[in-house]
Amino acid sequence: RIRRSVWFVFFDTYIGRLTQILLLDKRKGAMTVAKVYVFDHPLIQHKLTYIRDKHTGTKEFRELVDEVATLMAFEITRDMTLEDITIETPVSETKSKVLSGKKLGIIPILRAGIGMVDGVLKLIPAAKVGHIGLYRDPETLLPVEYYVKLPSDVEEREFIVVDPMLATGGSAIAAIHSLKSRGAKHIKFMCLIAAPEGVAAVEQAHPDVDIYIAALDEKLNEHGYIVPGLGDAGDRLFGTK
Ligand code: PRP
Ligand code: URA
Repeated sequence: RIRRSVWFVFFDTYIGRLTQILLLDKRKGAMTVAKVYVFDHPLIQHKLTYIRDKHTGTKEFRELVDEVATLMAFEITRDMTLEDITIETPVSETKSKVLSGKKLGIIPILRAGIGMVDGVLKLIPAAKVGHIGLYRDPETLLPVEYYVKLPSDVEEREFIVVDPMLATGGSAIAAIHSLKSRGAKHIKFMCLIAAPEGVAAVEQAHPDVDIYIAALDEKLNEHGYIVPGLGDAGDRLFGTK
């Protein structure tokens, strides 16, 4: 049930924050390079360790996911454009920089993506928040869409799709497709933990979408869970089982 047509990770070259993963498609014999930005900041890595730990309870898990989302948002917005405006300080007139360019939309993939929204909003409080509801069918592992509500000016905005987990990639691919089909043109995908299979699948389906992660894990297990991962992100965030 899990696609195993793509073999990875022969090497990853590290250029600044950019890790390039070389992918070999076993069926086609073709090589592609996936671009994925791994945020290895010590604070992110420290917090991620406790997010992964099965002894971390719901309250602390939720707080840590929120904090890591804020730290990742700081990095992911590094390419935002600026313009000069003139202001007066108490001492003199001066030119100073403010954000310009496209407004931002945050799109959590329900339900676990909700856990990352407030963390991003702390830095970008004016961002609009849309929602895409998807769940993975436990048998087929295919995403099932049950809800979509987006800001009205989709074409004008740059979007960050957030979800803690990128496993087979099915949910991310479907969410990004859903956004594009409604007119979105500039999309980034941000998650805490990704499997190489998921990175490859998103890269193949949406090569224009950059992927930002806190950790690239080893593999998927036979149930489609990321190994070592953190378990079920939604259940751990909301205390369900
Ligand atoms: C989890 C996770 C992702 C998806 C990743 O959600 O939050 O959305 O699985 O898996 P994939 O890459 O194989 O699609 P889940 O379907 O468990 O729903 P939930 O958020 O409602 O718990
Ligand atoms: N969804 C999760 O919540 N965890 C995984 O490991 C894979 C998919």
